[in-house]
Amino acid sequence: MRAVILVGGFGTRLRPLTFTIPKSLLPVANVSLLEHVIAALSMAGVTEVVLALGFKPEPFLTAFPDGVCAGVSLRYAVEPQPMDTAGAIGFAARFAQINETFIVVNGDILTDLDVSALVDFHRQHGAVATLHLTSVDDPSQYGVVETNDHGVVQRFVEKPQPHETTSRAVNAGTYVLEPSILDYIPLDQPLSVERVVFPTLVAKGALYAMSTDDYWIDTGRPENYLSANLDLIDGSRSRILASIAAQAHIAGTAVITRSVVGDGCRIGAGAIISNSVLLPGAVVDDGARVEASIVMGHIGERATVTDCVIGVDGRVDFGTTHVAEKIPDPATL
Ligand code: GDD
Ligand code: MG
Repeated sequence: MRAVILVGGFGTRLRPLTFTIPKSLLPVANVSLLEHVIAALSMAGVTEVVLALGFKPEPFLTAFPDGVCAGVSLRYAVEPQPMDTAGAIGFAARFAQINETFIVVNGDILTDLDVSALVDFHRQHGAVATLHLTSVDDPSQYGVVETNDHGVVQRFVEKPQPHETTSRAVNAGTYVLEPSILDYIPLDQPLSVERVVFPTLVAKGALYAMSTDDYWIDTGRPENYLSANLDLIDGSRSRILASIAAQAHIAGTAVITRSVVGDGCRIGAGAIISNSVLLPGAVVDDGARVEASIVMGHIGERATVTDCVIGVDGRVDFGTTHVAEKIPDPATL
C-alpha cells in the first residue's frame, strides 16, 4: 500500500525552530518526526511513501539520500507553489500515479493508531474517504467532526468558533482515500481538503470516520512538541526511547531530569536541565538552568531559561533570566 505524507507546510507555530529545520524533520526523542510517522505506516504494510513537499524540500533530499526511511521507499513530489492540503494530495497522487486505495497523513502527527484497522473500516463501509478521529478538550484548533451511529460524517468544521459545535471529536490527520478523491481536486490549484473537499464529501454521504482513544498528538505547537518528546522518554507511551544521544558532551556534575539531549550538545558543570528538549548542537554553559524549554542555541553561564523556545541563533547571555509569560498561544501566530 502507498501513503502520501503532507510535509510542505511552513511550520509557523514552531518558529524559530522551523527557520532552519522543517517541522517533520525535527527530532522527537532524537528520531525525526518523519521517521516515527513512516515506521508506524510501515507496520500497516505501507511500502512506498510519497512526500508532498513544498516549502524547503532540500533538507528532505539530504536527510534521506538513498531514498529510504524506516525501510520504506520514498518519492518526492515537490509542489511548484504551496498547494494547500487538498492541492498537495492531488499533486502527490498524480505525480506517483496512484490508482488504488491510499493513505494520507499529516506530517506532524504522532499516534499509536493501528492504521490497518482504519483501512479495514474504510473498506467495510465502501467510503470514498475515511478519517481517523480523536477526542480533545478544546477543538478550536482542529477540524471538528460530527458523525452518525454508522460512522457517516454529518459535518466537518475546520477551526470552529466556540458556538459552532458541541462535538469534541476532531480530525486526527490520518485518512484512507479512494483514487476517486481526485475528481474533487482540480489540477495545479491550491485547495484545502478540510475546508472544501471534506465538506463536499459530507454533502454526498461519502465521508466516514473511525474514532479511537489511542495515543495521539499534533506536534506542531511548541507545548505539544515538548510533550511529544517527553512522552517518549518518561513511560507515558508503550515504548521508551533513550533520552540522551550518544554523541552529547555532558559534565559529570550536570543534573538532567526528564529531558532529551541531542547529538553534539554540550552541557557544562553544575548545569540543571529539566522537562526540556536540547536539540542537536545546543550548548548550556556551566551553572545554567533550563526548565520546560526547547533549545537549539546557546545558554550562557548561570543564565536561567523557563518555558522558552530558543532557535539556532538564539544566545542567552550569562547570568540573565528568561521566563516566557507562557508558551506562545498558537492562535496568535
Ligand atoms: N505539501 C504541502 N503543501 N503540505 C502542506 C501544505 C501545502 O501547501 N500546507 C500544509 N501542509 C502540511 C503541513 O506540513 C502539515 O503536515 C499538514 O499539512 C497539516 O497542516 P497543519 O498546518 O499542521 O494543520 P493543522 O494542525 O492546523 O490542522 C490540521 O491537522 C489537525 C490535526 O492535527 C487539519 O487537518 C485539522 O483538520 C486537524 O484536526
Ligand atoms: Mg498540525
